[in-house]
Amino acid sequence: MGKRVLVCGGAGYIGSHVTRLLIERGYYPVVIDNLTTGHRAAVPISCPYYQLDLRCQELLSTLLKQEKISTVFHFAAYSLVSESVRNPYKYYANNVQGTLSLLEAMRQSGIQSLIFSSSAAVYGNPGMLPIPEDHPTHPINPYGESKLLVERILRDYHTAYGFRSVALRYFNACGAWSDGEIGEDHRPETHLIPLILKRGVLAGETLPIFGHDYPTHDGTPVRDYIHISDLAEAHILALHYLEHHHVATHFNLGNERGYSVLQVVQASQHVTGHQIKYEFVDRRQGDPAELIAQSATALLHLGWKPEKSTLEEMIASAWEWHRKHPEGFRA
Ligand code: UFG
Repeated sequence: MGKRVLVCGGAGYIGSHVTRLLIERGYYPVVIDNLTTGHRAAVPISCPYYQLDLRCQELLSTLLKQEKISTVFHFAAYSLVSESVRNPYKYYANNVQGTLSLLEAMRQSGIQSLIFSSSAAVYGNPGMLPIPEDHPTHPINPYGESKLLVERILRDYHTAYGFRSVALRYFNACGAWSDGEIGEDHRPETHLIPLILKRGVLAGETLPIFGHDYPTHDGTPVRDYIHISDLAEAHILALHYLEHHHVATHFNLGNERGYSVLQVVQASQHVTGHQIKYEFVDRRQGDPAELIAQSATALLHLGWKPEKSTLEEMIASAWEWHRKHPEGFRA
């Protein structure tokens, strides 16, 4: 039997895709999720699953021992930037306190290896593009701050207790599993591509575009979109990496290419064949103007190279899921 790993937040968007890839590659993932934002239906029925919050440290510790876990993948976090600005307590309590509880449960169970979901949000408004991993980190919202705090805690746990960890700083994850059977389903949905496809295309509603006076080529924010299957692949590579490297480190995961909100709208029209109505509204709090990754370090150390690099193929993949499941997991 393959290696036994714990996937915290395995019912969420990124966690559920990594869980599927782990199974495909012969691993034995055990999923925990508190289902505040995840979906039970996103976890394969064959996969051991526990509804559990990270802050239940004793239960977690027992589970880690019982299931003979060797490595932990940690996706369990709140991830809405503007909500984090309005309600920082929620973000620090879940994202930071929850992680500390997990780390202590791991310590009690003698597990020392973790792959952590970090974010481009740690960089804030970057001083240079593309952003290298050693770029200064100045988050501009509590969500980014919570991810950076966990990265620091992981480095301290490495120094003090010999914990090994890889923090993966995702840029903008998008797309769906190749068969279109699982995909993005946040409630409320705030992410651009699902909103364009669900509201703009399927419901024929007008899409609000948050700001048109950013210092970018067309005035709308630029992001580096990265397909979920490429992100998932990086987690498998990080797992291999940790088997041979006693480190606490971090890598960017992006395509090294930026697209503006208007470019995403145009590409979505092209992929779906539907006209999308939009209107410019005020900027959204906590949004940086431009985020583009430098991902050479992930290539050098993990051997990771994204395969789905065009915006059209990423949108087509998301479209497959939304078209087949207009109600998401609720159906
Ligand atoms: N946008 C709109 N209209 C919408 C929704 C989004 O104009 O209805 C714009 C946003 O203002 C932003 C861009 O589309 O400029 C992308 O927004 P998303 O919400 O899809 O993604 P973000 O860039 O805000 O968020 C992503 C990740 C976060 C991460 C953040 C880093 O989802 O987890 O990047 O800043 F923290």
